[in-house]
Amino acid sequence: MAMRVPLVAGNWKLNKTATEAYKLVADLMPGLRNIQGVEKLLCPPFTALMAVSRLIKDTDIRLGAQNMYWEEKGAYTGEISPSMLAEFCQYIILGHSERRAYFGETNEQVNRKVRAALAHHLTPVICVGETLEENEAGRAAGVVSRQVREALLGADLLAGSDPVVIAYEPVWAIGTGRAATADGVNTLIRNVIRPTIAGMFGDDLAQRVRVLYGGSVNSGNAKEFFAQPEIDGALVGGASLDARTFIGICEAAQG
Ligand code: PGA
Repeated sequence: MAMRVPLVAGNWKLNKTATEAYKLVADLMPGLRNIQGVEKLLCPPFTALMAVSRLIKDTDIRLGAQNMYWEEKGAYTGEISPSMLAEFCQYIILGHSERRAYFGETNEQVNRKVRAALAHHLTPVICVGETLEENEAGRAAGVVSRQVREALLGADLLAGSDPVVIAYEPVWAIGTGRAATADGVNTLIRNVIRPTIAGMFGDDLAQRVRVLYGGSVNSGNAKEFFAQPEIDGALVGGASLDARTFIGICEAAQG
């Protein structure tokens, strides 16, 4: 059995100025310091990356951004490149459902971003998940499998030891307070996500890739998810903005 270190990631979304971020991280640090055996990842907005990276530089807390463009440089006003982020970050969230829904991101664009991130040694946290409509039509497995496959097409995953993370986030569970069932998520990861990766890159890699759950995770329900053998951590939105709550979720991942 592959040993996968649990990962708990805070996706701050469009919240916190650099000054507010500094305060939140200062509140997080004492609690996170004592948590062993869990990788802790903070994903603030771009404008707070530098402040947060200075604060956490002597800790084991990891830093990620929430989006990125695939081009390295040039006339792309308003965009941020992989190497700009690689100065501060180890991780990059890609293909979040809010980017897909509000900014029209396609699987093909997510794929370009994934390949660009890998080329710059940023670990992509690739978000996948079906909408409520797709779920009710019994299409969750097909949609998720396709999102995973199209995000990873042509990606060079066999070189690194921990090249990608998948976050399964059913759209209907995000920010709704209506989390998926832990058992249902475990089954989808086992029957859909890992087999899709195995079909492309082999079973060994499929067993090593960490798969997170995201969607209304809080300090009350986190343990249930982490108790499932296929769930390797969480991508936490709203609950990551409160220091005590996020620390509690990281503690739950300690087992
Ligand atoms: P939520 O968001 O925890 O607020 O549901 C999760 C996410 O969108 O990553």
